[in-house]
Amino acid sequence: MVRENHITASDLIWPIFVIEGQNVTEPVAAMPGVERMSVDRAVEAARMAANLGVPAVAIFPNTPPDRRSEEGEEALNPDNLVCRATRAIREAGIEIGIMLDVALDPYTTHGHDGVLRPGGLVGGHTGVRGDQIVGNDASVEILIRQSLNQAAAGADILGPSDMMDGRIGAIRRALDAEGRQDVMIMSYAAKYASAFYGPFREAVGAADHLKGDKSGYQMDPANGKEAMREIAKDIDEGADMVMVKPGMPYLDIIARAADTFNAPLFAYQVSGEYSMIHAAAANGWIDGEKAMWESLTAFKRAGCDGILTYFAPVVAQRLNG
Ligand code: PBG
Repeated sequence: MVRENHITASDLIWPIFVIEGQNVTEPVAAMPGVERMSVDRAVEAARMAANLGVPAVAIFPNTPPDRRSEEGEEALNPDNLVCRATRAIREAGIEIGIMLDVALDPYTTHGHDGVLRPGGLVGGHTGVRGDQIVGNDASVEILIRQSLNQAAAGADILGPSDMMDGRIGAIRRALDAEGRQDVMIMSYAAKYASAFYGPFREAVGAADHLKGDKSGYQMDPANGKEAMREIAKDIDEGADMVMVKPGMPYLDIIARAADTFNAPLFAYQVSGEYSMIHAAAANGWIDGEKAMWESLTAFKRAGCDGILTYFAPVVAQRLNG
């Protein structure tokens, strides 16, 4: 009667991984219970999620190696995996929101979220490759084209996860100019350079070839005030919803954001958070089921409107009895 927060299926966005092929699934070794699915299987997964009351799926591709390149052109292909999956879910008439990431890491041979250009701090840590950095403005140009490509395929929500400066405003203007005012933007507004993304990089096949790290554009885990600036900027540029990522190690950021802004606020309980709970439970060290509910409840308590979580189908099944 006095409980302040509840988890409902409508709080959840389910991230799923797609691969080439027909009627195939592949386990993600570092994420028990998570599979990469061919497009036809992803359609069935989306149908199940919709029937359970989950309002949206976020689709990520495991791009075949021969379609990855230095500049990530596959992101612009109208027939790439995520575009095909989006169209297939739409054509099946399934009533579920489709969110697609805006970033190049599933498409580049170097695994970075943007394109590499000469630059870097003299004698400093560039975080990338030799004398190259991820070029902010050059990346924004291609991310705009990726956004338009994904909107044309039928995405309802675009999630720029690249952390380039100025991309939210640029993407919003480009969408509006093409008559796509209805496509929403959920910005990965405060996205940290985190070790907790490890299992995801295995899932999308970017773990082996990522050069350097992403600290040149993702946030320093030591910074909190900067997160408030990043979120304010993205809302100002036209983000409809904002996200903090990862989740559990950054509950303080979520709580500050909830107190400071009125925009819908989401947390991404990332792959490493999911895997840690599973690994400890598999060893009998914690009760995995209870840890799942407790972690999700913490996000609501901190002030989230919703949560991206790999637990979504399990949670929704429990809630549906
Ligand atoms: C890509 C992207 C990442 C995640 C979502 N989009 C990984 C990264 O930035 O390296 C991570 C999600 C997870 O760990 O579950 N820009």
